[in-house]
Amino acid sequence: MASLAGGEELDDSELIRKVDASDMLGVLSSMPEQVRKAYALPRPRLGTSKPKLVAVLGMGGSAIGGDLLGACLLEKKGPQVIVNRDYRIPEFVGKGALVFAVSYSGNTEETLSGFGQAKKRGCRIVTISSGGKLQQLGDPATHIALPKGLQPRAAVAWMLVPMLGMLEDIGAAPARADVEEAAQILEGIMKELAPSVPASNNISKAVAAQLHGAFPMIFSGPLLAPVAKRWRTQLNENAKMLARDDVLPEMDHNDLVAWSEDPMAARCAIILLRDTAEHPRVARRMELTRRLGLDRARSVREVSSRGRGTLARLLSSMAVGDFASVYLAVLRGVDPTPVRVIEELKKELAG
Ligand code: PA5
Repeated sequence: MASLAGGEELDDSELIRKVDASDMLGVLSSMPEQVRKAYALPRPRLGTSKPKLVAVLGMGGSAIGGDLLGACLLEKKGPQVIVNRDYRIPEFVGKGALVFAVSYSGNTEETLSGFGQAKKRGCRIVTISSGGKLQQLGDPATHIALPKGLQPRAAVAWMLVPMLGMLEDIGAAPARADVEEAAQILEGIMKELAPSVPASNNISKAVAAQLHGAFPMIFSGPLLAPVAKRWRTQLNENAKMLARDDVLPEMDHNDLVAWSEDPMAARCAIILLRDTAEHPRVARRMELTRRLGLDRARSVREVSSRGRGTLARLLSSMAVGDFASVYLAVLRGVDPTPVRVIEELKKELAG
């Protein structure tokens, strides 16, 4: 691999330890283990009838697993997945739907509200939380208990993988081989992204250096759209930084105009998430979109997914962004773990 540029400050392990005081990097490094353990968690028996619709109710770090689940099922003949980030659930979520109510804390009010409506409508419901009201209100026979003490966004595999497992159990989508492939690929990636790997060989450190001091924009094709969103939200919460995500081909029908003309482009740093199995026309569009607009940005870097199965491709692309967001927090001198303003807002809402 050609040597990567920038980020040498991140080769100071003492600095990383000092800024990443609650060891977010350590938690992220346990992702392969999380994937395997989450698949091995005891799962509720949901019978054999396959739902046509799966509705994942969740917010923020507890919702992204739903987006990833939906992406996994795009390449399988599984049910349609919707992710509901609201107090109300759509009218079409009825008796026949399978509902996953997911809240790491178990106390997120939008999720609890949606759960209450799903219950009234007689939906088949599984609750997933590390405790809280959701656990109390849910049926113990269809509750998945998550390990406590994590930030929701650091527990994404704990929330995603059991949902895949349950769909597999009811014959709606095979998961076992995909889960194992993803865990193996992640193991390799963890070695490459570790703080001990120098910036010259560590893509996440190089990405952090690239995005530092710029306005980050994360773009992808449709399959990796949830990953682009995850990169953005990890930059928001870990690096405490504004960022934006968007998707091709849609952005070629609007955003591209701005890229070709707006002087702000020079302040933006772009990550283009490339998928090994992207549609050939999306691939062609990526090249043209760069040439006709994105190359006016301060920098553009392509990050490629790895693996054959959808889950591996999603999680491998996600891991690079997760680590980069923490390295960027270190460069900015901010502790990646606390999200004080979210807690403050929740307190105000509860008051
Ligand atoms: O990352 C976070 O802390 C948030 O995005 C939370 O996940 C979000 O506020 C929802 O809370 P919970 O995951 O506990 O349902």
